Amino acid sequence: MLLHASPDLTIYHITLSPGLQYPPHNHLMDALIGIYKGSETNFIYPVDGSEIDAPERHDVAAPAVVHMNPDTVHAVANTGSARSGALHVYLGNLTETHRHMWSPDSTHAEPFDNERYLAGARPIRPGSGKGGRKVSVLRGGVNEHSASLRPDNGRRVLSRFKNIAARL
Ligand SMILES: [Fe+2]
Repeated sequence: MLLHASPDLTIYHITLSPGLQYPPHNHLMDALIGIYKGSETNFIYPVDGSEIDAPERHDVAAPAVVHMNPDTVHAVANTGSARSGALHVYLGNLTETHRHMWSPDSTHAEPFDNERYLAGARPIRPGSGKGGRKVSVLRGGVNEHSASLRPDNGRRVLSRFKNIAARL
């Protein structure tokens, strides 16, 4: 459900059914995913031009905040046994951005289309993806973060987010 969209901020409330995996896509802006219920898995894809390669798998359980850079390509799945819940915060207007998705059976980028994105949900393939830590995870709030979050990057995103929040 879309909660807010303005030129520098978009907020969605998104819940995912267990056992489903959605198509790879990018956002072309910083994304902060605050998972408050259940667990989600991110498959992070290496990109070469507009082609994607085999993804790395990253499992996250609530409560956690995941940060993705503007160039990140990911596919999200609910690998848990219950419905997951998350607030998705994007530092830009995601609803008006010409971004990309990749069909489940293709490695070539296509324009993002919400209907095709939702129709592209598939059962999770067991064991898909290599283990990895390409996303930054901030556990238990935005002040604590894992070593994988580069401090400069974290400070940049949080300071931008605070500026935007102060204007709401
Ligand atoms: Fe996404």
